[in-house]
Amino acid sequence: MTLRILGIETSCDETAAAVVEDGRIILSNVVASQIELHAPYGGVFPEMAARAHIEAISPVVESALQQAHLGWQDLEAVAVTYGPGLPGSLLVGLNFAKGVSLGRNLPLVPVNHLEGHLYAHWLKTEAVSGPGTASVPGTGDIPPFPLLALIVSGGHTELILMREHGRYELVGSTLDDAAGEAFDKVARMLDLGYPGGPAIEKAAQQGNSRAFDFPRAWLPGTFDFSFSGVKTEVLRTLGRYNGPRPLRLIADMAASFQAAVVEVLAVKTAQAARELGVTCVLLSGGVSANTALRTAMRSRVTVPVLSLPLVLCTDNAAMIAAAGTYRYQAGVRAALDLDITPGARLV
Ligand code: KG4
Ligand code: ZN
Repeated sequence: MTLRILGIETSCDETAAAVVEDGRIILSNVVASQIELHAPYGGVFPEMAARAHIEAISPVVESALQQAHLGWQDLEAVAVTYGPGLPGSLLVGLNFAKGVSLGRNLPLVPVNHLEGHLYAHWLKTEAVSGPGTASVPGTGDIPPFPLLALIVSGGHTELILMREHGRYELVGSTLDDAAGEAFDKVARMLDLGYPGGPAIEKAAQQGNSRAFDFPRAWLPGTFDFSFSGVKTEVLRTLGRYNGPRPLRLIADMAASFQAAVVEVLAVKTAQAARELGVTCVLLSGGVSANTALRTAMRSRVTVPVLSLPLVLCTDNAAMIAAAGTYRYQAGVRAALDLDITPGARLV
């Protein structure tokens, strides 16, 4: 039997809707990005994000149905992100999903945004090539348990152990800035624009990653992370250069910063994977689009490292529909008084 679920995601600055079949086949995946709206501010402006979601949500959902060549009657349920995320942004998606649930008589399935980032790995994708895109021999294209997932995004840096569907153990997380947040803040310091991750990655290609020895927070005995030290050190170093900053300097700083962040992420993930005896490592979230990170992971982690095509690394609704399918099959339903949980945790 085919099970088609509409996913809705508005936790940050992407208005997204998607239809996924049987938790794995993407029938449509529509993302309206607000990047241009927030670029002048160097980060997401929450109130503007919420207003832009209000404008975009209805056409985005309509497009998701159209592109899937489906009508409302073809859907089994609507899955929506209830948290974590920006309150005003979450409210738009959740309320729209409630309207759909009530108006079209579809069950409402609540999904944690982080669970979405994990379940992006259960979606079938075109074969992708490049560093860190291995599959696990003998398992087809389904990630085998137990697995370790690194979620690295603008809001999160979390190592999660998953022994089976829906069961998560927190292995480590950031004590301060998320990895993507550090990329965004350092990009702003270096005048590289927003979003910072791709801008730093691009600038770093022209730079020397050994030019500056930025600090690595190893936090021994834990699998936690900290990125505020490296960020402060970039600022301090930058302060030593008055006057015009040559492109070479900016490129060297970007490359050295990226190397510091990537090394800590890869070394600690590899160590955790070894100690926990997992069968594979999943990379999720916007920062997992970073090529240096994928390459470092593949060279340090001894089990297969699975990464995603770019559209499934960053925020999207196909991942919410995928996670929602597993929740729906497990009998999870939300009532119409479901509230947002901006600080929701996975574990
Ligand atoms: O997953 P995502 O779209 O949104 C959140 O849930 O936060 O991740 C966005 C984050 C931003 O901080 C962005 O700078 C970062 O992912 N990012 C990257 C790259 N592409 C996006 N960071 C490093 N390298 C990249 N290529
Ligand atoms: Zn995200």
